[in-house]
Amino acid sequence: MSGPIGMFDSGFGGLTVARAMIDLLPAEDLVYIGDTGRYPYGSKALADVQRFSHELAHSLIDDYGAKAIVVACNTATAAGLDELRAEVDVPVIDVIRPGAKALVSTTVTGRVGVIGTVGTVKSGAYVRSIADTGVPVALSSAACPGFVEFVERGQTSGDEVTVLAERLLAPIVDADVDALLLGCTHYPFLARVIGDVMGPGVTLVSSADETAFAVRSRLTEVGLLRESTTPGRHRFASSGDIDVFRDLGSRLLGPELDATEPWPPGPSST
Ligand code: DGL
Repeated sequence: MSGPIGMFDSGFGGLTVARAMIDLLPAEDLVYIGDTGRYPYGSKALADVQRFSHELAHSLIDDYGAKAIVVACNTATAAGLDELRAEVDVPVIDVIRPGAKALVSTTVTGRVGVIGTVGTVKSGAYVRSIADTGVPVALSSAACPGFVEFVERGQTSGDEVTVLAERLLAPIVDADVDALLLGCTHYPFLARVIGDVMGPGVTLVSSADETAFAVRSRLTEVGLLRESTTPGRHRFASSGDIDVFRDLGSRLLGPELDATEPWPPGPSST
């Protein structure tokens, strides 16, 4: 089916989901918007984040012809997608349900953790989604303000990140979990530091792969999956500095990100 899959995040975080989607669905065209001009979302009022999501999703459909929307941001998902889903007539896939599913299927002891932005943790979205799975687990959550800013600066290791991680993750370490969900799409870029702090007995779960599987099954269900041996086209746009987005984005995602366009797009960009 023609039309790209449209994705967005506040910045670089959703690239972890883009990576998984490019690997699982290489034939699909993709348009990614990193809203770096307005990041971080995690400390903003959820009503503002919801407004940004609507704007980005409508732009992906109207300006780029997106056939489906992937909300590659936990905070935007936590801010509520019901209205958006009701408003648009393309599938809208989020990262929270796939993440919750992956978490409960990973744990052996039933003691699990979720970390995310202040907005995501405060919203209770993971508590609800994990309850919806019907799997009885003991959940410990912690907000990790500051993690996203490190990633957006390209600082994914070192003493400063480690000291912050030790402090923020202490309650989760104390809760003796065996599986920890990285409930912010930026956090997989800090997986080495988070893994070192949590220790070898804790499996880190990222929603990226599970979301890519959810996208595949949803597109198959509605007959929109692109079956082709021709590789898809990948476009990246940013509401912030496009050179910074290209340089750091290609370091984080890989060679697919070799050009960045400004968002909102100019009149002839589609
Ligand atoms: N990557 C986003 C998330 O998954 C939000 C990060 C932010 O802008 O605070 O929640």
